[in-house]
Amino acid sequence: MSYLETTHDVYKEAALTPDVGLCCTTNPIWELPGLKIPKIMQEMNYGCGSTVHARDLTNNPKMLYVGVGGGMELLQFSYFNRQKGGVIGVDVVDEMLEASRKNFKIAEEQNEWFKSDFVELKKGDALHLPVEDNSIDVAAQNCLFNIFKADDLKKAIKEMHRVLKPHGRLVMSDPTCEQPMNDELRNDERLRALCLSGSLPIVEYVKALTDAGFGTIEIRARKPYRILDPKHYNTDELIYIESIEVAAIKDPMPEDGPCIFTGKAAIYFGDDDYVDDKNGHILLKNQPLAICDKTAGALASLNRDDIFISESTYHYDGGGCC
Ligand SMILES: C[S@@+](CC[C@H](N)C(=O)[O-])C[C@H]1O[C@@H](n2cnc3c(N)ncnc32)[C@H](O)[C@@H]1O
Repeated sequence: MSYLETTHDVYKEAALTPDVGLCCTTNPIWELPGLKIPKIMQEMNYGCGSTVHARDLTNNPKMLYVGVGGGMELLQFSYFNRQKGGVIGVDVVDEMLEASRKNFKIAEEQNEWFKSDFVELKKGDALHLPVEDNSIDVAAQNCLFNIFKADDLKKAIKEMHRVLKPHGRLVMSDPTCEQPMNDELRNDERLRALCLSGSLPIVEYVKALTDAGFGTIEIRARKPYRILDPKHYNTDELIYIESIEVAAIKDPMPEDGPCIFTGKAAIYFGDDDYVDDKNGHILLKNQPLAICDKTAGALASLNRDDIFISESTYHYDGGGCC
């Protein structure tokens, strides 16, 4: 059996019998005015962060969600455009599609604005999306891509890039891990399917996105996720897993490389009103400017003693350079 087949089996089971402990999200289940999340969707929240950010969802975007789970985030996305077929949901597991279909019916009863046909469910694989080229404004996946091994991850990201319109965005949440993991853990198909042993260091995760051509990356959140300890897992040392929320934007790749926002800011505190770096960035005195890592490097290389550059906070929420 391949690790992809094991993954199907794990999620077939999780569709038939909701498993509250399957993923360890630290996010609260958010409900907005008039938005009620049915209990069954909450029990089937198999993600590790949120991919629903209001600022991505203006102007009735056409949305795609890959790996539907219990359907909670598709319902949250629908809240923002409320149109027939506004959100396409793709999943490879029949039982998961069926479970989410039932959950949308329950959501209809609890949300007077919502209709099940706001979500178009399609059977399909993240590695071969049943979606046209350049047709999507906002695509999302939560806790699926970390399961894929390198070649499949490459294919899945390439597929997302293909279906997005120019400047469209891929919003994701996945576990990440900065420590090496041994091959037994890495190749344990069940642990991988459970989002425990496939995670990459953030730098590698981001590189997979920029290698596919995404010109702008935003790391929006970084949070504690899980521990793999020697008593319960095949490891000699304690392994700390985090989760991140990331947006990859289909901007053209800048000639000098991607703009990767990790939450750095520059603050000019000199004697003038502002500094112009002659590279498109104006630093107003005492006003923090969000900068990408590339700009941070360029400003640091000026060796000025009146510009402070902060560390990465891994909490970027818009604005700034590039
Ligand atoms: C960890 S769950 C996450 C579910 C949902 N995103 C959430 O946050 O609750 C992974 C989801 O991806 C689906 N899945 C697994 N392999 C897939 C594939 N190759 N293509 C599309 N969906 C897949 C599973 O059926 C399941 O719904």
